[in-house]
Amino acid sequence: MARDPLHDGHGRRITDLRISVTDRCNFRCQYCMPAEGLPWLERDGVLTFEEITRLTALFADLGIATVRLTGGEPLVRRDFPALAAMLTAIDGLDEVAVTTNGYLLERDARALVDAGIARFNVSVDSLQRDRFFAQTRRDALPRVLRGLEHLASFPEAHPIKVNAVAIRGFTETELIPFAEFARAHPYEVRFIEYMPLDGDRSWDMTQVLTGEEIRAAIHAVHPLAPAERAPHATARVHPFADGRGAIGFINPVSEPFCGDCDRIRLTADGRLRTCLFSLNETDLRTPLRAGATDDDLEQVIRDAVWRKELKHRVNEPGFIQPERTMSAIGG
Ligand code: 5AD
Ligand code: SF4
Repeated sequence: MARDPLHDGHGRRITDLRISVTDRCNFRCQYCMPAEGLPWLERDGVLTFEEITRLTALFADLGIATVRLTGGEPLVRRDFPALAAMLTAIDGLDEVAVTTNGYLLERDARALVDAGIARFNVSVDSLQRDRFFAQTRRDALPRVLRGLEHLASFPEAHPIKVNAVAIRGFTETELIPFAEFARAHPYEVRFIEYMPLDGDRSWDMTQVLTGEEIRAAIHAVHPLAPAERAPHATARVHPFADGRGAIGFINPVSEPFCGDCDRIRLTADGRLRTCLFSLNETDLRTPLRAGATDDDLEQVIRDAVWRKELKHRVNEPGFIQPERTMSAIGG
């Protein structure tokens, strides 16, 4: 039974749900987590597969069409492909996607493709082994690249996106290698502007290497065709002028795209977040475990979504960084 679609109080229809299936990760990226890791959620605080599936089915009934599974690192959750299969079986979803650091793709790509996962985003911040190590605190570039290649052997997994967080003072020397990587392989490389969601709380505006700076630097060597951002998309995707490959730019800091944002997020402990930068969240786990009906949950969800933030305030004085880091929110 389809329910009325979800709308927020600013007239935006909500159709995209990001689900964090665990806050744990096997990497310790500088821009996301402190070296020693974070205090993990207690295991019984994390939603079970059945709980995630029940909520996702309700969200699908409320008009959510695309679901993206994130972490932490989603593939470190035990039996993750089984959860993926439970979610792709839900009626009404157009697409279930996964965002991963790639470390376990050699092990899991086949199971995830077989489970019906149709879209993969793989995070790779450097194409040089020592710099990759410095950024992720894991010497894992060769393994991630093998995972990516293995994934690419499945036609169903394409198009594959490779995401790099762009940080001033680090990423500049990566730009041309990534452009050439995107031209030589069937991957769309996307640069994401560094956002204030880091574990060390050391982000500041001077560390943001903007998408426009990157685009200009690449364009000077490998000309890019002009492009606009598609409605509700996060990335502006520029094909290379000669038609070989494409580069995407996700510019949440320099060109916020909140106006047509259609996204909400569910954390691993069952909190609904209506913005990456939300300062408050809505507990769905407690009512779920107390025996709430779908109608009860729908009311809680509808009220929270109605109050979705108009926009983030990263560029405004008085911006407050949320307590949770990216790893605990889910990208
Ligand atoms: N700023 C921008 N992107 C980030 N990611 C993680 N932390 C940040 C941050 N502070 C990215 C990851 C991954 C996606 C889920 O979000 O690298 O590609
Ligand atoms: Fe959407 Fe919040 Fe991101 Fe803006 S900052 S695009 S409202 S999630």
